[in-house]
Amino acid sequence: MTKEQIINFLRNHNQKHILDHYHRLSPEGKNNYLKEWAGLDLSLVFDLHKKYSSEKDFSRPFYEIYPAPIITIPETAREKAQSDEARILGESLIRKNQVAILIVAGGQGSRLGFEGPKGKFLISPVKKKSLFQLFAESVKALSQRYRSTIPLLIMTNQENQMETRQFFASHDFFNLKKETVFFFNQSMLPTLTPEGEFILREDWHLLLNPDGHGGSLKAFYESGLLKHLTDHGYSELFYCQVDNPLVKIADPVFIGYHRMEQAEISTKVVRRRDLKEKVGIYGLVNGKPTIVEYSDFRPEDYEALDENGDIRHWTGNTAIHMISLAFIQRLNQHGFALPYHRAVKELEGLGPDGRLAKITGWKFETFVFDSIPLARKSCCMEVSRDEEFSPVKNKLGNDSPDTARAAMNNLHRSWLQEAGIQPAPEAKVEISPLFAQDKEELIEKLKGKSLAINGDMYIGQ
Ligand code: UD1
Repeated sequence: MTKEQIINFLRNHNQKHILDHYHRLSPEGKNNYLKEWAGLDLSLVFDLHKKYSSEKDFSRPFYEIYPAPIITIPETAREKAQSDEARILGESLIRKNQVAILIVAGGQGSRLGFEGPKGKFLISPVKKKSLFQLFAESVKALSQRYRSTIPLLIMTNQENQMETRQFFASHDFFNLKKETVFFFNQSMLPTLTPEGEFILREDWHLLLNPDGHGGSLKAFYESGLLKHLTDHGYSELFYCQVDNPLVKIADPVFIGYHRMEQAEISTKVVRRRDLKEKVGIYGLVNGKPTIVEYSDFRPEDYEALDENGDIRHWTGNTAIHMISLAFIQRLNQHGFALPYHRAVKELEGLGPDGRLAKITGWKFETFVFDSIPLARKSCCMEVSRDEEFSPVKNKLGNDSPDTARAAMNNLHRSWLQEAGIQPAPEAKVEISPLFAQDKEELIEKLKGKSLAINGDMYIGQ
């Protein structure tokens, strides 16, 4: 939008408080002030504001959700053989340079209360590695194991991009080849008041919010990275969130099932920890695979038990997906296909008297899992929580740094025990992805070696 168009837009949308401020600025200040508006999709937020304001009933629709077909954790010999078959297929796709990795790291991480990009958070139990370092080392280990080039894509937002890039640069990209690491930004959208006014920050600039993790699929396309990868023969994307240190990056079994099922998007789920755990639930809505966020359930449904006394809706979304590049292309073909949700939040912004105040804000965001019902085919696989899911969301309690560190320690301890080593009960252990990515690799590497673990121990390369 040009300067005149922005001013007109503000007039037409009754943004008097912004115009008053604008008119008080020097000519140079005016130019600078309008620069940040030029790239914003102002019409989109006002269309969304109109849509959500016209909803008379503020209660959300509740969904009827039914069990979907799920590949459960293999138990029988037949299931194990199938899982092996999937692994072999997945490994061949990695070897043939068809799989790239995307970590979404554009969230604001407000619940953890950590200043800066969440990926910088030091999480590993002994060596205190950051989340980004763990992911990067896993990618490095995989590319060595399969002798392949695995692009690592990191989605950031306008506010945390510089710090994220600098973090990688200052750590020499954790020994990944620099040209295989790509950063791209998701879009930001203005946050509005329920009355449809832009909110200003203390510095009189616009309050913006990242457009949700679904924005990764749009930004990946718009940045040209989708085309770049497709042109280089890549066809699949392994997608995960920055908050889960246990994630099995580019798990070949998952990749294999995704391809065997000819799915456009696949999801890993875990059994819900308990009735109160707040996760999305994978199931069928109107006959289509879908993830319904816990907040869109009636509480009595979310906490319902089945006839055996088990949690009825047990399929907790880990936010680990395989997504086909051709599907992402299609989602962007005729404008971006994902719907925008509205989140109502109490925020800080300038009140009418120009002082900081608590203001109710409407944030508009898309969710990556809303693409599932749009896929021609999707697949879902159950995995073990202890092995693959321990997100860092809160400062304390469940899903906190303490629980994630304990989960890493327990997992690595169990691998050591399978390798015949019994760490002292109070000893913390940590195994570098560069030493072993799984139990099998650890057993192989430690074969014939004796190791006494009497205190905290890091097992690196
Ligand atoms: C999310 C899922 C939930 C799932 C859980 C698993 C939603 C609405 N819910 O919950 O179904 O069970 O994870 O841990 O997503 N992000 C961006 N840009 C954004 C917003 C978020 O990159 O604009 C990234 C964050 O950096 C983070 C991830 O997305 O890596 C998750 O975001 P968050 O808002 O914390 O999701 P949850 O509510 O925890």
